[in-house]
Amino acid sequence: MSNSKEYTFSETNDVATFFQGYAADFDSIYGHTKKRSRWDKFLDKYFRLSMRLRYELVLKYTSNAALKTILDVGCGGGVYCEALLNGGKIVTGLDIAQGMLELAEQKTKRYLAEGKVNYVYSGYLEHAFPQQFDAAVLVGFFDYIKTPLDIFKKLEKEITKELLMSFPKSGGLLGWQRKVRYRMRNCPLYYYSKSDLESLLTTMGWQNKAEIIDIDRDFFVRVKL
Ligand SMILES: C[S@@+](CC[C@H](N)C(=O)[O-])C[C@H]1O[C@@H](n2cnc3c(N)ncnc32)[C@H](O)[C@@H]1O
Repeated sequence: MSNSKEYTFSETNDVATFFQGYAADFDSIYGHTKKRSRWDKFLDKYFRLSMRLRYELVLKYTSNAALKTILDVGCGGGVYCEALLNGGKIVTGLDIAQGMLELAEQKTKRYLAEGKVNYVYSGYLEHAFPQQFDAAVLVGFFDYIKTPLDIFKKLEKEITKELLMSFPKSGGLLGWQRKVRYRMRNCPLYYYSKSDLESLLTTMGWQNKAEIIDIDRDFFVRVKL
């Protein structure tokens, strides 16, 4: 993992602090770490459909053999990194929460030893990569991003072929309840309507290269660069 940084931008700091404390709990949603309570399991079954759907879409699109090197931005506990590595990809995971990266390293120990994965401890906007990647995966990431256009502009320089991204939908009682819950823990959350996404994609000139897929509580966006 590359060197840690001091963050000056307070909102990014709040997200890092939130995920530092939430690492093991978040990872357990995927079901292979900490034990989940009955209530958690109920929530997982009824409210986390989009988590499963976006996972399946990432695996489907990255099965393209032309996508060899993948950047996982906001890789969290490494569930996507592990799946991509199992599929023969060369992976770089980046995250702003050290606790999350430690989980990811644990999960992908074998691949770390083989040099097939490396991890970067940083906010995405704060880290300049010397190399380009074939594709980027940004799942469950834009929820915490105040300026998505800045992220898109950086991705445009660093990624050559494909972007696979999820965006939480605006509206709905559950979304509102989640926002309150996160706000109480000082973590900002951002939601997106379909027209927000269309206008962001148009600003980037990506409107004819992008597909917006409605998946339950998220939009999944695939951009072929
Ligand atoms: C909800 S988790 C998703 C993890 C993983 N992508 C998944 O779907 O399992 C969001 C992750 O994004 C990271 N994150 C949030 N803002 C970030 C930023 N500006 N730069 C890098 N990572 C960030 C958080 O630390 C957290 O680990």
